[in-house]
Amino acid sequence: MERLTTQVAIIGAGPSGLLLGQLLAKQGIENIIIERSSGDHVLSRIRAGILEQGFVDLVEEAGCAGRMTEEGHVHSGFVISDQDQQYRIDMQSLTGGKVVTCYGQTEITRDLMEAREESGQQTYYDSPVNSIEDVESSSPTICFTHQGKEYQLSCDFIAGCDGFHGISRQTIPSSIRNEYERVYPFGWLGLLSDTPPVSDELIYCKNERGFALASQRSETRSRYYLQVPLTEKVEDWADERFWDELKQRLPKEASEQLVTGPSIEKSIVPLRSFVCEPMQFGRLFLVGDAAHIVPPTGAKGLNLAASDVSTLYKVLTRVYKEGDLACIAQYSEVCLRRVWHGERFSWWMTNMLHEFGESELASQEGGIFEKLMGSELDYFLTQPHGQKIIADQYVGLDYEELK
Ligand code: APR
Ligand code: PHB
Repeated sequence: MERLTTQVAIIGAGPSGLLLGQLLAKQGIENIIIERSSGDHVLSRIRAGILEQGFVDLVEEAGCAGRMTEEGHVHSGFVISDQDQQYRIDMQSLTGGKVVTCYGQTEITRDLMEAREESGQQTYYDSPVNSIEDVESSSPTICFTHQGKEYQLSCDFIAGCDGFHGISRQTIPSSIRNEYERVYPFGWLGLLSDTPPVSDELIYCKNERGFALASQRSETRSRYYLQVPLTEKVEDWADERFWDELKQRLPKEASEQLVTGPSIEKSIVPLRSFVCEPMQFGRLFLVGDAAHIVPPTGAKGLNLAASDVSTLYKVLTRVYKEGDLACIAQYSEVCLRRVWHGERFSWWMTNMLHEFGESELASQEGGIFEKLMGSELDYFLTQPHGQKIIADQYVGLDYEELK
């Protein structure tokens, strides 16, 4: 068993772990990242690409915003369509100037990875963490395997940035861990193609055939989603079938602009709302998907991970720079307030924009749920104050400060 030590051990080299590592390094706080997959595998995961300003500011503070600034696209608004009627949510006007940046998660992860490599910080890829010990002591340890050898890493603090299927969350004793979950009765079939986006801005489509989303990665690369039943298999969706269905769900005006082409990636993801409370135990902190999951309808997954990173960065900076150990206790409460706002917005957008017709809920209630949600959407889209409520949450609520 080879023994290592550091100040902060980070489990997971996804966006949460990499961003935290860069920020801590800026403060001279030593950290080691342990990642179970290869770097290429981490980069192969296709995920959302809408960044709140708070995320953009953090990446700038980490000194990794070069390519994002150059290649990211600022979006001042987006469209929600209800059948063929389109409503533009003018975020910039409705929120007093706030906007979002469209830049793929894969790209931001690549930028953070390259920055970490250039800074010479230690990252162990292909190295699964097998155990987390003594988190209630002042020197917790994690054990991992790297190239067939066993390692024990001792540290002051552990950041569990290991996603929904990671090991960290289970380290919080079930006697104090509360998990809240809602699984939706449908999934999203996503397609990536090197075709020009159907529109300059994103279009979230409510349609009687099912939800669709028209998103993008650049002026030449598009990302589309279709709501599908959980029983669907990606191999049953040839490109032609996908494009035909998307054309029927997009508002007519957009559908006529659609440029189709061969898919370069296709996959189906389930939708769930999930929160683990508390988000810390002893010297272990859960960050991002390790602690919470949102349905992607509100574009909050990556952005909630960023606000957790921001809070943990503030806590650890205060610990190491001011010797303030007491502030550790604030982490979970500060994160959860913003997490629950993001969960609620994502759940609300999902309820308003998807078809629940086949679901148990809808059949139990004889269709009143969909009528109520249809009216909710109509109200918020046709009232200026309603659109402002959507805009305020889409651009992202302010980050919470430590006391
Ligand atoms: N040991 C080491 N690494 C692990 C372990 C383990 N036991 N378990 C999981 N990991 C790694 C995974 O391989 C993955 O690379 O932790 C990383 C977690 O990354 P993400 O799942 O991307 O989670 P996070 O960094 O919080 O990013 C959240 O990613 O899933 C999307 O929609 C989500 O946009 C959001 C963002
Ligand atoms: C994406 O571009 O993948 C994307 C954008 C917005 C969402 C979800 C996914 O709400």
